[in-house]
Amino acid sequence: MSKIKAAITGVGSYIPEYILDNHELSKIVDTTDEWIMTRVGIRERRILKEKGKGSSFMGSRAVKQLLEKTKTAPDEVDLLICATVTPDMPFPATANIIADKVGIKNGFHFDINAGCSGFVYSLITAAKFIESGQYKKVIVVGAEKMSSITNYEDRTTCALFGDAAAAVMLEPTTEDLGIMDYIARSDGMGRKHLHMKAGGSCIPASHHSVDERQHFIYQEGQVVFKHAVSNMADVSVEIMERNNLTADKLAWLVPHQANLRIIDATAKRMGLDPSKVMINIERYGNTTSATIPLCLWEWENQLKKGDNIILSAFGAGFTWGTIYLKWAYNG
Ligand code: UT7
Repeated sequence: MSKIKAAITGVGSYIPEYILDNHELSKIVDTTDEWIMTRVGIRERRILKEKGKGSSFMGSRAVKQLLEKTKTAPDEVDLLICATVTPDMPFPATANIIADKVGIKNGFHFDINAGCSGFVYSLITAAKFIESGQYKKVIVVGAEKMSSITNYEDRTTCALFGDAAAAVMLEPTTEDLGIMDYIARSDGMGRKHLHMKAGGSCIPASHHSVDERQHFIYQEGQVVFKHAVSNMADVSVEIMERNNLTADKLAWLVPHQANLRIIDATAKRMGLDPSKVMINIERYGNTTSATIPLCLWEWENQLKKGDNIILSAFGAGFTWGTIYLKWAYNG
């Protein structure tokens, strides 16, 4: 009997309406459209403005769209994993809130926090449940309200991030399709260069932590940049080599969207033509766990059954990873 593989069978998304562009940002902090475009490649990002709405609001919208597109009833879903660094609240898991909002009752649900590699880590985890033969419909949703942890007085981080959610459905297949291989890595030493200082069990929220603006993203950009460039490219090249994938056999690279220069460097190391790289950072910025599924959603119409695709990400932890998959349907 052929081995069971996990294939993506649909994609959904939710993008907030409000657009914060570089022009508006340059009125808030000392920055310019030119600096942000040349150093990072972002022109605008979406912000969820409505008060009281968090990542589960966007995540549930993305999952609802996914259920409709794949004609799936909520009670058919066995498992929902939410990749997020911006949960609605420290507990319970945002996955549970999303499942409740869309009416998924018969499954089990949990969050994965792997920084910007959250979607890659979650997809690898979800695939294992499908490959076991026990689970038939698994949803992975990346949902991030990055604006809730972004310091709009810090020009070194506030231009980078945006809000969005996107979700995929995973189902079993015995065809030669779906997730073929993956590499996932992490190095906790990297935590000092990219983290949020307060709000956890080490430094619970206090007047002091708020006054010191410790509830926002802290990033040493250059250090993170260096690790991102080398690690993302290393695993992407490694997965190509061990699957005998030359650049001409690859249809697409779907990279995490943190910085256009990181994406270009990765594609170059892989020997890929820029036309095969999904890039939408200019319009959405870095939406952390949502970047990769958001690309799949935008490019879905162009994807063909059997397309060889590599997903690659790097993020807080440090975490990084890559997935080689064969697309399972014509978009
Ligand atoms: O997704 C999770 C993982 N995160 C990443 O992968 C991000 C990796 N890092 C990066 O993408 C880049 O390091 C940044 C985009 C964060 C920064 O770009 P950079 O080219 O590394 O700039 P830099 O930090 O070396 O700063 C150069 C200069 C500094 O000024 P001085 O000290 O030389 O006078 C910064 O203060 O640019 C200044 N700067 C800005 N200037 C205008 C930093 N941010 C801004 C800004 N506007 N928004």
